[in-house]
Amino acid sequence: MGNKRGRFSGRLGFVAAAAGSAVGLGNIWRFPYETGENGGAAFLLIYLICTIIIGLPVMLGEIAVGRKSQMDAYGSYRNLGNKNWGMVGAFGIICGIMILSFYNVVAGWAFGYFIQIVFDGLLVEGKGNYGNYFNSYVADFWDNLIFSFVFMVLTAFIVIRGIKAGIEMASKVLMPLLFVILITLIVYALTLDNAMEGVKFYLLPDFSAVNASTIYSALGQAFFSLSLGMGALITYGSYLKKKENLFKAAAVVTLADVSVAFLAGLLIFPLVFSQGQEPTAGPGLVFVALPTIFEQMGPLMGRIVGGSFFLLLCFAALTSTISLLEVPVAYLVDERKLKRKKVVFGLAALVFVIGLPSMLSAGAVDFFTNFMHYEGKNKSFLDVISDLFSEVGLVFGGFMLTLFITFKWKTKKMTKELSEGNPGYAKSILKSLVNFSITVLSPIILGVIFVITVLQKFFGVSLF
Ligand code: PFF
Repeated sequence: MGNKRGRFSGRLGFVAAAAGSAVGLGNIWRFPYETGENGGAAFLLIYLICTIIIGLPVMLGEIAVGRKSQMDAYGSYRNLGNKNWGMVGAFGIICGIMILSFYNVVAGWAFGYFIQIVFDGLLVEGKGNYGNYFNSYVADFWDNLIFSFVFMVLTAFIVIRGIKAGIEMASKVLMPLLFVILITLIVYALTLDNAMEGVKFYLLPDFSAVNASTIYSALGQAFFSLSLGMGALITYGSYLKKKENLFKAAAVVTLADVSVAFLAGLLIFPLVFSQGQEPTAGPGLVFVALPTIFEQMGPLMGRIVGGSFFLLLCFAALTSTISLLEVPVAYLVDERKLKRKKVVFGLAALVFVIGLPSMLSAGAVDFFTNFMHYEGKNKSFLDVISDLFSEVGLVFGGFMLTLFITFKWKTKKMTKELSEGNPGYAKSILKSLVNFSITVLSPIILGVIFVITVLQKFFGVSLF
């Protein structure tokens, strides 16, 4: 079975690709604004706890399921469970398609900003009012269309080349570059006046800002950021050899993800405070607050530093979009025995079309911009898809994975799989902790959070 399936060359290849999937817009765009809106350091702390006690065990579960079955997300649940369980995998594949449809739009914004800062006059035209600039930029259908189209094409070209020559290669080049750019920018940011105010906001917790919604935002963020709950890591795990130590791999991926999120905060808050801006700007934070700062640096430095920042964001996004696309691609290649090339182009086109309403939902068309009203605000089409699939969907997917391992596949088999390439695992304390999380802690927390989120978001029940 699977002799024509691709493979990672080894643990390093897998780690680079999985860390590439994890590190993305979620870390550099979403994490800082979530942290800014949710009180800074206290949010950071809760996010870290969620990552360790729930994220890492669920990640191990996904990778173990994938490597055991050597199949796509649907095939894995079906093979190790049955057809009904296969539906959980199918749901994950749908989440992947829907998440990619809007993720690619935001990636397109980052790409457009990169081009316009470096080669065009963004820092001149937007002068004085980057909020307006951003609003009219995202409301421009053609800008959205062109930049997100290019981004989707780049993604497709990498995925077409397959696991080793495409996904692994791209991640091995882009991930180290990303770290270099990030560290360089942080060193620069910390030298600015008032930078330490930002560091304080970011690192000194104020627990009075914490409530139940902080906790579910932190959990949702941890899941999205680690690429959990939709089978991306089942799929990547299925391209791993038996001899690899999965615990080490998952630990390194988690560490890389957390580090980049942490470092992104360490870059952005000093920048924001150095200009006396508010950290609570929401999704516009990196697009609105940062250009002001780049502009102050003068025309040349602004281009260099600003361009580097948005390039960094594009690299991070690209290694994530390829993993989002690979999930449905793997399904069609494995289950339907279709040719990778055809599947990639077909799916990329489909996802792009599904993303059109999201492109139109940041001001271009009123119907999509004010698509629904819940949680006391108007939500755009993009917001709705993001809430449904990346917040609710991933938590649900993670919850189902824990039930699947607990009641169907059984932790014993998971332990056996995790012991391949790691003989001491079965007897270690880690095993007991991981199993406790998978069978008790994670299902309870994920289940409760799932129900609360649905009630709160879509049924207007206000629980806290
Ligand atoms: N982890 C990515 C990020 O933080 O941007 C987003 C993501 C990628 C979510 C792949 C889910 C996924 F399967």
